[in-house]
Amino acid sequence: MGDEGTLYIPLLLGTSRKERESEKVAKWVLSKMAERDDIETRLFDVRDFDLPRDHYGTEIGGSFPEWRDAIIRADGLVIVSPEYNHGYPGVLKSVLDVLLKEYIHKAVAFVGVSAGPWGGVRVIEAMVPMVRELGLAVTFTDLQFPSVGSKFDGEGNLLDPAYEKRVAGFLDELIWMSRTLRWGRQNVKSKYH
Ligand SMILES: Cc1cc2nc3c(=O)[nH]c(=O)nc-3n(C[C@H](O)[C@H](O)[C@H](O)COP(=O)(O)O)c2cc1C
Repeated sequence: MGDEGTLYIPLLLGTSRKERESEKVAKWVLSKMAERDDIETRLFDVRDFDLPRDHYGTEIGGSFPEWRDAIIRADGLVIVSPEYNHGYPGVLKSVLDVLLKEYIHKAVAFVGVSAGPWGGVRVIEAMVPMVRELGLAVTFTDLQFPSVGSKFDGEGNLLDPAYEKRVAGFLDELIWMSRTLRWGRQNVKSKYH
């Protein structure tokens, strides 16, 4: 298997809360992804999804063509989620639920964000069985941002240099999984693609 080719890996910011700290995390991770020659990325924000109050799920997938086309094209996905009562925001689930078969046999990597000291480990664990049903394959290298309120300066710069090494490992593994699954989708017969 060659190492050739750019991987398309969008990032989904999973909360619409007004003063969300997760946005700083998402923008920092996105900037690190953009530095990699082997990744093409773009930000999707759950705030930009005009979700109806009276409908739900894949039947409304056609209302979000940019998201649908991005996931069809994607080799992987990064989800940045805060921990809300040990779970993920409902709006994140609502956005993910508008598609289904488009996710199958693609990689997903999680970034957890919390005010508390655990860095979203509980929301990440909660997301694993949920994305499994979508057909996504989870990486084992998560990125955690505990005590997020003290992690960034006023301009959104990350204050802790230890994250440079962490994000490199996080992306290396996501790239490996995304590339391997792309090879599999292209070369190994499956009823799903
Ligand atoms: C509804 C709600 C529930 C929360 N539950 C938790 C929690 O279970 N554990 C935790 O560490 N922080 C919790 N927080 C705090 C968030 O982790 C905190 O707001 C952090 O900044 C990340 O979320 P944000 O992107 O909305 O800012 C909660 C916040 C909200 C709004």
